Amino acid sequence: MFPFKNNIILDRNINRNLYLQLCDQIIGFIKSGKLPPSTKLPGSRKLAENLSIHRKTVIASYEELISQGWIETIPARGTFVSSILPIVNPLGFDRSFAEMKTKDKSGFTFSKRTHLVRKLSISNTEQTLKIDDGSPDHRLAPIDEIAKIYRNISKKMYNKDLLTYGSIYGNIELRKALMYYLNQTRGLDIKIDNILITRGSQMGIYLAGQLLLSNKNRVIVGSTNYITADNTFIESGGIIERVPVDEEGLDTKCIEKLCKSKEIKAVYVTSHHHHPTTVTLSAKRRMHLLQLAQHYNFAIVEDDYDYDFHYSNAPILPLASNDNKGNVIYIGGFTKIIAPAMRIGYLIASKDFIDEAASLRRIIDRQGDQLLEQTIAQMITSGDVQRHSNKVLKIYKTRRDLFCSLLKEKLNPYFDFRIPNGGMAVWTKLNKSYHWDDIYREAKKLHLELNPNWRRYDNNNSNHNGVRMGFAALNEDEIREVINRLEKVMNCINS
Ligand SMILES: Cc1ncc(COP(=O)(O)O)c(C=O)c1O
Repeated sequence: MFPFKNNIILDRNINRNLYLQLCDQIIGFIKSGKLPPSTKLPGSRKLAENLSIHRKTVIASYEELISQGWIETIPARGTFVSSILPIVNPLGFDRSFAEMKTKDKSGFTFSKRTHLVRKLSISNTEQTLKIDDGSPDHRLAPIDEIAKIYRNISKKMYNKDLLTYGSIYGNIELRKALMYYLNQTRGLDIKIDNILITRGSQMGIYLAGQLLLSNKNRVIVGSTNYITADNTFIESGGIIERVPVDEEGLDTKCIEKLCKSKEIKAVYVTSHHHHPTTVTLSAKRRMHLLQLAQHYNFAIVEDDYDYDFHYSNAPILPLASNDNKGNVIYIGGFTKIIAPAMRIGYLIASKDFIDEAASLRRIIDRQGDQLLEQTIAQMITSGDVQRHSNKVLKIYKTRRDLFCSLLKEKLNPYFDFRIPNGGMAVWTKLNKSYHWDDIYREAKKLHLELNPNWRRYDNNNSNHNGVRMGFAALNEDEIREVINRLEKVMNCINS
């Protein structure tokens, strides 16, 4: 008989019932083949005696194992390991245990996407301060308000329908609210059928990429570009063509040239503030791009991720507000205004495209969080979103000014930059006699975290030495401390 006494170890000091510990271990022996199908198990009295536990504990354990189908009772004969369990290859106990703990390798092959692999940031300690590439400050999110509305909505009986499957286009109240909101804030002339609610802007980029590019179609992006958009388009099967980006944004003359020689399916543009360099696409180029889109029948994928953050004058209206021929796919969301974890975004396009995008979205994510969508709808209608947006805009402007003035004052010889008129980051070019790798290494020693993927800004290998330095997620004290540490980093490198 299997030596239960020597092999079962029960620990009264851990936070798991003894009867469940016993179950776990018996299951482990069955799985490892140490207790093969049809093995007779000791009676409950005997096992309790052997393990110095109460008989009721063994009985509870056996009942649990019977209900899970691991063991069975045969009248007048006793308790046995279930005879119908699949045969498992016996493995040494130690080996199978080790395998259970470390599942690094799958037992099958699958395709790997090396182009999507990114270095992870180092872990945050309390002393660590991070310069990200332009995230909002999640600490400013109106979370109490959101929680209150969310709770109120979920308490109301007539809202219980929001807990079941809903429209694949997203919550109707949010779509209605967006129709007015996007008209008032961005001049978009749309109907509900032109709106698909997504989980953030990224889902919109993905859906657009999949629908436009799967047949090795060509998409034009900037020579510097948001790397995740590049990756999304490559993943969709598209071919990337690059055009220069200067002080007026994407060079539309180069786009025209490309259109003359190749069939172009789409142009991806972060028109309000080009990612990463933060420049705004000029009015002249906006009009030119729209004309080209109509002439050559391509889609403009307008990713307006930071439309709400404009510090000098009124924001320039998106290309989508001038699109009367259905060429623009407009992508935006609330992840920057409210918080990145609140995954609510939208895709705005002609109805036929929205229908297709909704069907595609359905097979990866049936729908979003309807309660949250309804919450945001209510906040839009009550004006809370706009009030919050105005509030954070003022805070971010102060942070931008402080960050830029300290960067100029303390680190002028090393970094070249232009004060961005919007967004959440400064496009900072490092003096070419220095290297980002050295800065990254020294900064780490001083608990200053810089993005380890700084090379991703130079997908063209043009050696521009620029990175985005986000200021919005740091409060004023943190900005002072970050600049202070950066100064020390440069001193160390120079010494
Ligand atoms: C240019 C750009 N587009 C899209 C996104 C994705 O935003 P979301 O969090 O709404 O998916 C980001 C996120 O940083 C971004 O920088």
